[in-house]
Amino acid sequence: MLIRVEDLSFRYSRAKEYSIKNINLKIRKGEFVGILGPSGSGKSTLCLTFNGIIPHSIRGELRGDVYVKGYNTKETSVAKLSTIVGLVLQNPDSQLFNMTVEEEVAFGLENLGLDPEEIKRRIKWALRIAGLEGLENEFPPNLSGGQKQRLAIASVLAMKPEVLVLDEPTSQLDPLGREQVLSLITLLNKEQGITIVLVEHNTEYILSFADRVVVLDKGEIVLEGKPKNVFEEVELLQNLGIRLPASVRISHKLKKKGLLERSALSERELINKLKSIMKI
Ligand SMILES: Nc1ncnc2c1ncn2[C@@H]1O[C@H](COP(=O)(O)OP(=O)(O)OP(=O)(O)O)[C@@H](O)[C@H]1O
Ligand SMILES: [Mg+2]
Repeated sequence: MLIRVEDLSFRYSRAKEYSIKNINLKIRKGEFVGILGPSGSGKSTLCLTFNGIIPHSIRGELRGDVYVKGYNTKETSVAKLSTIVGLVLQNPDSQLFNMTVEEEVAFGLENLGLDPEEIKRRIKWALRIAGLEGLENEFPPNLSGGQKQRLAIASVLAMKPEVLVLDEPTSQLDPLGREQVLSLITLLNKEQGITIVLVEHNTEYILSFADRVVVLDKGEIVLEGKPKNVFEEVELLQNLGIRLPASVRISHKLKKKGLLERSALSERELINKLKSIMKI
């Protein structure tokens, strides 16, 4: 078990209410876990507990425990936890502060005490995977939104974490940038075996690629399971204001008319079902 969250609740110092409440969650090695939930449901707060930023850098009242590879985050430094859990945030601009793409990736590595050859190898590897080869000497602010976010991912990746936690990494990108970042995330999980925890509003993507989905509401887990089962709960998700994949909305209407048995169909599955119903 890579991450184990046990009866976790957290209240920010100045807040009256707990932002996450009694969370129990296990994340296994190699898994791809999607997190969904309305605004304010505690998605970002939960992400910040995975590498110790909560409680080490952001203060408040923490109850329960988070274990990362067996280390209790309360007793382990953020620096140590960051070598296991890499965190990527929404806004790439807030994560980039070096003069060149290469320096950006080198930055975190220099504090790890690695030898210069290993640093070079890791920079090359991370930039190649993120599709940024050839841009080593570019000034990060001159990159496109998608490139910036892929650079932020490459910088975290170069630390060779076992888990990447990404909190709405595509929400500030244009459609092309989104597509690039989501393809990179899929590749990291399926080809590099990196465990992924992703907060993402693109439910089409979550339905197709996540192994498990966790739905938060008002700081609590209200639904959890395989995408096939979670997206069957159409009414519950709609009541929470979660935008559903178009294929699920259509399948759900057809199910209510007795034409289909399931709602949680991907676009491809829906098309195939319709073809077989219409015998074409
Ligand atoms: N630094 C903070 N101090 C006090 N309260 C906070 C702080 N950050 C978040 N909160 C509160 O904690 C609750 C959960 O917020 P959080 O940012 O984790 O939600 P979220 O699901 O990530 O929302 P969004 O979809 O808008 O990003 C909200 O009620 C929010 O107002
Ligand atoms: Mg958030």
